[in-house]
Amino acid sequence: MIPFEVGPGLHLELVEERHEEELFKLVDRNRGHLRPWMNWVDEKADQHDTGRFIYNSIGQHSAGEGFQTVIRFEGNLVGVLGHQGWNKTNRRAEIGYWLGRRAQGRGIMTACVRAHVDHLLGIGGLNRLEIRCAVGNRRSRAVAERLGFTLEGVAREAEWMHDHFVDHAVYAMLVSEWAALPADVRRQKWQPRE
Ligand SMILES: CC(C)(COP(=O)(O)OP(=O)(O)OC[C@H]1O[C@@H](n2cnc3c(N)ncnc32)[C@H](O)[C@@H]1OP(=O)(O)O)[C@@H](O)C(=O)NCCC(=O)NCCS
Repeated sequence: MIPFEVGPGLHLELVEERHEEELFKLVDRNRGHLRPWMNWVDEKADQHDTGRFIYNSIGQHSAGEGFQTVIRFEGNLVGVLGHQGWNKTNRRAEIGYWLGRRAQGRGIMTACVRAHVDHLLGIGGLNRLEIRCAVGNRRSRAVAERLGFTLEGVAREAEWMHDHFVDHAVYAMLVSEWAALPADVRRQKWQPRE
């Protein structure tokens, strides 16, 4: 699957060491934008922390426990999309993602998550994918809802966000539901709007 063209000028690349500097700069430019929703932002204080993330991501991939991708749009790295909580026995995982502020509002993340879902519930062999986000994270919830994930409920005080707990909206997609969608919906490529 990787590298994968999601649409013209929009690609997913497996996270590698060569991304370290560009990825750190993207995080650094977007601290204020990411901080309300991402509890790791303050921990990524310098480029070595990004290096550790990349090292762990390469280990995750080698262990067959999912993978992390960077999103490249018009030549620039604009975000990250990957998996956590990979459970081989129960064939489920959780999808996590973020975009730099300037890349929002173009349909990039919905298209990239669609490509991940189609891969993971297809040849990836998973049965269930979750998207969990803070209940107040309207933009993230909209990604799950556009793709037809089912809202299964609210996990109360599920995440410590700097200085308080936030509730999670828990969304899921099953392979049976994804497979029932028309192929052109599942494989829809990103297209720029006029
Ligand atoms: C969550 C996040 C990735 C969502 O980003 P987003 O830009 O809203 O989502 P998309 O990239 O799918 O873009 C959708 C928007 O692009 C618009 N759009 C513009 N051009 C488009 C095109 N060519 N195709 C499809 N949609 C397009 C859509 O209409 C939609 O607009 P709307 O929000 O006004 O309805 C982003 O807000 C983010 O990273 N936030 C901070 C970190 C975070 O919260 N991460 C998730 C933690 S759970």
